[in-house]
Amino acid sequence: MDSGLRRNDEIMNDSILSGQLIEQFAVFVARITAATSTEELEALRLEALGKSGFYTRLKKELGKIADIEERKKSGQRFNEDAARIENELKIKKEELAKKEMEVRLRTETVDVTLPARLAPQGKIHPVTQVIEEITALLSDLGFVVAEGPDIEDDEHNFDKLNIPASHPARQMHDTFYLQGNGAGKTLLRTHTSPVQIRTMRAGKPPFRFIAPGSTYRCDSDITHTPMFHQIEGFVIDKNIHMGHLKSTINEFLKAFFELDEVPTRFRPSFFPFTEPSAEVDIGCSRANGELKIGAGQDWLEVMGCGMVHANVLKNCGIDPNEWQGFAFGMGVERLAMLKYGIPDLRTFFDSDARWLQHYGFDPLNIPNLVSGL
Ligand code: DAH
Repeated sequence: MDSGLRRNDEIMNDSILSGQLIEQFAVFVARITAATSTEELEALRLEALGKSGFYTRLKKELGKIADIEERKKSGQRFNEDAARIENELKIKKEELAKKEMEVRLRTETVDVTLPARLAPQGKIHPVTQVIEEITALLSDLGFVVAEGPDIEDDEHNFDKLNIPASHPARQMHDTFYLQGNGAGKTLLRTHTSPVQIRTMRAGKPPFRFIAPGSTYRCDSDITHTPMFHQIEGFVIDKNIHMGHLKSTINEFLKAFFELDEVPTRFRPSFFPFTEPSAEVDIGCSRANGELKIGAGQDWLEVMGCGMVHANVLKNCGIDPNEWQGFAFGMGVERLAMLKYGIPDLRTFFDSDARWLQHYGFDPLNIPNLVSGL
């Protein structure tokens, strides 16, 4: 590169100031030429042309030269030099930037043909998935989600639900009692029905909600785990009758199992908090050991339901002559097993990562209920 260096004979008549100019110009050009990085070059630029750089400082001195001719000459040289330094910096900067880019391109290559490293991915538990599905479907029918505590008391879990202390239904519930006696006795809720009581007492009719959540019973065998999940459904309004109950459940079951038809049977039953009460069976076939829902001669129980008992309404300060409605309750694991072909209930809570990989749901690709309600 042409460094722009001037030989000494060119400056025969220059003043001391000009001498400084010549000298520094040569030094700057040499240093610019030798610079090896853009950072170094930037430091040089500041040193030469920056606010307190050499040329900036010198410019102030120039005005002080008394001899007009001398001032003119020095001024001209100054302008030339400063412009050339600027130009040198520019050329070198481009050169260095190009070199630096070449180095980056050589060293920072990405091989797009390499297989992607698989990040471990979690799965959504079937219980969570089924709760989400049921919530989505029933919210289409105007149900909102209500909640209650897992640690309950006798009053909400039994008394207000029309299950008095002496009632045999209490024994059927295999309750985990926690502490205390009498009225203050706490327990792990044996069903989601206490949410009926809590929601009614906290608000005013009409009501239309579902209450999903964990429930607990002191029971453990092939078809029972001490902790399991239920979804309660509850509707109170004026003029609600069993026809509404039947159509809600029929439509829900078709949408949940994603079938055009699901035969149902409302079989008379007993629950202390409903009158009349029924258990809902769905039609299925068990031919060749394979369970098929929606067809065949067999029946399979999927939930309990009924018209909310007048005593339950009264217990919550609601006039049963003005308001009435229906309730239903279903087991989440049971519905998950039926829909997704999971054979063993106990495996739900083994925390086996291989089981979850197999039966769980991809969070980025969860099944969509095609039909909805
Ligand atoms: N709570 C009942 C149970 O755990 C299920 C149930 C049955 C809930 C009928 C209801 C209902 O709301 O109407 O066995």
